[in-house]
Amino acid sequence: MQAKIEKISPLSALALKNIDDHADMPIDFLSFRERLSFANIGHPEKKKEWKGARLAIKSALDAIKLPYPGFYKDEHGKSHPMDGYGNVSLSHTNGLAAAIFHKEMPVGIDLDYIKEKVVRLGPKFLDPQEIDFLDNDPILYTMAWSAKESIFKCQGRKGISLRQNILLFPFSHLDNVIKGKIYDTDFADHYYTVKVERDNDLILTYTIW
Ligand SMILES: CC(C)(COP(=O)(O)OP(=O)(O)OC[C@H]1O[C@@H](n2cnc3c(N)ncnc32)[C@H](O)[C@@H]1OP(=O)(O)O)[C@@H](O)C(=O)NCCC(=O)NCCS
Repeated sequence: MQAKIEKISPLSALALKNIDDHADMPIDFLSFRERLSFANIGHPEKKKEWKGARLAIKSALDAIKLPYPGFYKDEHGKSHPMDGYGNVSLSHTNGLAAAIFHKEMPVGIDLDYIKEKVVRLGPKFLDPQEIDFLDNDPILYTMAWSAKESIFKCQGRKGISLRQNILLFPFSHLDNVIKGKIYDTDFADHYYTVKVERDNDLILTYTIW
């Protein structure tokens, strides 16, 4: 998938970056706390991914002309802007990093490579109703996995099960939007719409409003 910066609306943008293209970019826009977190990451590949994701948020914010506020993580691992305005979500995988920002609504984003083994893992993250329409197809399974991860990140709380609390409505290869809901939790059911983009063996999903 080509690296890109996309303005989704005046309030929302996403960016996808090739991590290696940006290894030498300065990170002086990061907050003091973020620079400390960065310095504390030991693993070189993890360090590159972390930096790539922050450069992706910076580009997304630039696209809608918002300053970089710095981000902190809550007890669930979800990032929030230090100034309290807006919502962010991040994903990184093998050489790529993605970020989405929305000034008003919660967001979730996820990047995954299509792998045959995802079909074998299906019963761990899918409801039997979903297995019925996914047809043992690794592409559809990866779309389902990624859509559920985006919904999980959008809601942000640990303890939500992909299999038991997130249900996707039937979709096919032709769909570029997947609908789903979070159900059977202490909260009211909540419905989500997830955009899906595929390029060869890569799936990108993100929540839209
Ligand atoms: C937290 C989780 C969504 C991260 O996904 P991942 O595929 O491992 O990694 P990604 O690169 O796509 O995303 C990583 C980013 O997710 C974000 N994240 C972590 N916890 C989060 C949460 N509770 N809510 C929202 N975003 C979160 C972080 O920003 C992280 O990036 P950072 O460490 O650079 O800040 C995932 O590990 C998870 O817990 N999934 C659902 C739980 C589950 O049921 N898993 C097993 C089912 S078989």
